[in-house]
Amino acid sequence: MQMPEKGADAGSADAVDLEHLVSALGARSIVLVGIMGCGKSTVGKRLASRLGLEFVDADSEIERAANMTVSEIFAEHGEPYFRSGEERVIARLLQEGPQVLATGGGAFMSETTRDEINANGLSIWLKVDFDTVMARVRRRSTRPLLRNPDPEGTMRKLMADREPVYAKAKLTVTSKDVPHEAVVDEIVLTLADHLFGPGQSNVS
Ligand code: S3P
Repeated sequence: MQMPEKGADAGSADAVDLEHLVSALGARSIVLVGIMGCGKSTVGKRLASRLGLEFVDADSEIERAANMTVSEIFAEHGEPYFRSGEERVIARLLQEGPQVLATGGGAFMSETTRDEINANGLSIWLKVDFDTVMARVRRRSTRPLLRNPDPEGTMRKLMADREPVYAKAKLTVTSKDVPHEAVVDEIVLTLADHLFGPGQSNVS
């Protein structure tokens, strides 16, 4: 577990007492929400390792439980089937905190899931702009919702529909196209402000 660095600037992520931060979470999970490609898994893994917590990816857990990929579940059983499995798996995972939990981009659209997250977690919306997200998702073809003739149009519509709901997350961190560790720094500072009060990051 990382302790605040001697001489670290007040207000920098290095000044945050991470042990204190994790104990302030209690059993709550840090739950990352946001659109496909916003960095929930890549940033989430680094955040978990910074905090000394487990990282859990809800989509991977769904795949493990179903013994199928997300694409196969969509193709063979349809989206509503996937969504009900997603609700159940996330509700179960939320009983296993504290941890860093990355959710699939549609998970937070479910009111049931939002209530579960509010009760057992601390939600963070990783907000990212359209161009950054499109550049990232173009590199991989594993997302069933974007496998159609107009992935850009689909993404624009998904972002327009979902952003007002993602905005209901307790905290928002803008995930720019910067190194992942910089986003982790921003999350640590945002968490410290929320849990300890602004500017109180290294008070034990
Ligand atoms: C989805 C996002 C995906 C996955 C599924 C549906 C969505 O997760 O859950 O393809 O509805 O936005 P990622 O956000 O991790 O890509």
